[in-house]
Amino acid sequence: MALIDRARSLLVFAVKNPLAFLYILLQEILAFVFSPAPPPPTGHLHRPRIAVIGGGLTGVSSAAHCVGHGFDVEIFEARPKAKGLGGIWSRVNSTSALQIHSIMFRFHPSVKWESAYPSQEQIKKQIVSVWEKYGLDKKTTFDTPVHSVKKDSFGKWIINNNTAEYGTFDGIIAAVGSCGDPKMVSLPNHANFKGPTFHSSDLDGKQVKGKKVLVIGGGASAIEALEYAVKCEAAEIDVLSRSDKWIIPRNVFVDAILSMNIFGGETSFSWIPEWLLRKFFYRDLDDISPSGKGLYTDTPMVNSELFDQIRAGKARWLRGDIVSVEENGILFNHRAKGVPKGGPGHESQVQGDVIIMATGFKRPSLSFLPDTVFEDRYGPPNWYLQVFPPQDPSICATNSTYLNAIGTVGNYHIGIYTRLLLMFLVDPLTRPQEPLMKLWIEFTRFVKQFAPTGAFDFFTYAELIYWYCFVSIVNPFRWKWVPFIFFGMFRGLPATVVEQEDRLRDSNGKAK
Ligand SMILES: Cc1cc2nc3c(=O)[nH]c(=O)nc-3n(C[C@H](O)[C@H](O)[C@H](O)COP(=O)(O)OP(=O)(O)OC[C@H]3O[C@@H](n4cnc5c(N)ncnc54)[C@H](O)[C@@H]3O)c2cc1C
Ligand SMILES: NC(=O)c1ccc[n+]([C@@H]2O[C@H](COP(=O)([O-])OP(=O)(O)OC[C@H]3O[C@@H](n4cnc5c(N)ncnc54)[C@H](OP(=O)(O)O)[C@@H]3O)[C@@H](O)[C@H]2O)c1
Repeated sequence: MALIDRARSLLVFAVKNPLAFLYILLQEILAFVFSPAPPPPTGHLHRPRIAVIGGGLTGVSSAAHCVGHGFDVEIFEARPKAKGLGGIWSRVNSTSALQIHSIMFRFHPSVKWESAYPSQEQIKKQIVSVWEKYGLDKKTTFDTPVHSVKKDSFGKWIINNNTAEYGTFDGIIAAVGSCGDPKMVSLPNHANFKGPTFHSSDLDGKQVKGKKVLVIGGGASAIEALEYAVKCEAAEIDVLSRSDKWIIPRNVFVDAILSMNIFGGETSFSWIPEWLLRKFFYRDLDDISPSGKGLYTDTPMVNSELFDQIRAGKARWLRGDIVSVEENGILFNHRAKGVPKGGPGHESQVQGDVIIMATGFKRPSLSFLPDTVFEDRYGPPNWYLQVFPPQDPSICATNSTYLNAIGTVGNYHIGIYTRLLLMFLVDPLTRPQEPLMKLWIEFTRFVKQFAPTGAFDFFTYAELIYWYCFVSIVNPFRWKWVPFIFFGMFRGLPATVVEQEDRLRDSNGKAK
């Protein structure tokens, strides 16, 4: 009876919401085909052991992939469970939500989104659900900042010089993210301000109704703060932005097309999407579109409602520099389009009762890794595939070397990077040699020599996929792993072939 009721309610849902139903169905299929099976609770994970540093979505997803393929893991998270599990999504406002469509944020194949743009709570729930499903609750050490990762004389990794408690590891996944503690910059004469100042990630419960709100910064958090103030019915909202960033529509097709620039940087055709954005998206607000800064140089913000709110007179977006904070507002030097930071303009006071600092987050440090991986020309992000230090590819720093991109932090690449690491660990013939990794880095630099940014300072998702295809094809010993690398499939097959290769090499007198 319960089954019939469930089927009936599903049918009603499908008829009422055909698109949502198809989206949920698609995710069920993806989860069924691509999710590695969680290990049985008593299962012995006999393959190499991986230390995962960071309990955000990258760390949890990477660890779930590892145990799903029979590799043991331990997650080390600096913060306590409440603030650490889920990473940055445990520490931002409950009103925060995904900017990009959730189909581009399937950070693990078993993730099932119920909406196109899930909220902070829904995102955290999915991270925790992957963590529990793969039995990672028994494999996570909270409240443990990793400050040292070293190799012992057997080539095994030791965390925080503590083998007694943690044992040793064959590989390291550094998943520390790029958004650490809130960045509170000091503004000139800030002490003069008589109202409160909050960081943009700490707005829950803050009363701004009927107040004049000043938002400092011009990034994604500034837009979130503006939306918060609109929702709370602030009297006036001014965003004080010192540099222009591109804003692209919150439209899955547009965003996917923009991320398909396989060159991963500005090309002679970049004026086309830029012109289209100005003409059909910015329209009368073209003044706030960046001038002299290409679309493929910096992470764009994804938002479609901002312009409507500006047009409706609910908020103003002001370009310029803060001269000084005053008792009732900020003395601001308004700059015209194209005038660089600190350039000439005209000063006026922008009144405010509350300041919201949307000035970003401090970058978590990777300095716990050995000094050797920070070589001058080959330090992060200038690593093999951006995440493997050429000095030691048993380290994989997924999403931790990221600077700017058109793509997403939480998608299939987390699984691909993890499986590349697992392949390097179990199959020595696939493991890249240092000179060849450096050659690949130089080759990528050569290909992107005309890009206005450094070769690894900006990339697109299409470029990332091209990198994976290139490095999979270039070494014939990796060919048998291709279904595994890209889809996590045929897990038993490559291992069997590796054993046979080993036997053959042994019989030829060439030990591993
Ligand atoms: C409000 C907000 C909205 C966002 N929306 C999007 C979006 O729409 N699309 C998108 O692609 N990205 C978005 N991002 C970027 C966001 O950083 C990623 O989506 C994603 O959450 C990053 O996950 P992560 O696991 O890599 O890093 P984090 O979530 O930052 O997790 C890293 C974890 O590592 C821990 N850690 C750090 N150093 C150490 C150490 N030494 N030892 C042990 N543990 C350590 C930290 O405590 C933290 O818990 C958003 C960010 C914010 C702030
Ligand atoms: N919903 C979402 O998807 C969402 C929401 C929030 C954040 N995020 C992500 O989280 C990351 C951080 O975003 P963010 O917006 O918090 O930070 P951000 O992108 O680093 O932007 C910070 C802003 O503050 C400005 N700023 C910094 N110091 C300043 C100072 N002293 N005076 C005046 N302005 C100053 C910066 O200007 P300059 O550029 O000139 O330095 C910049 O405009 C990004 O990856 C972003 O995509 C996503």
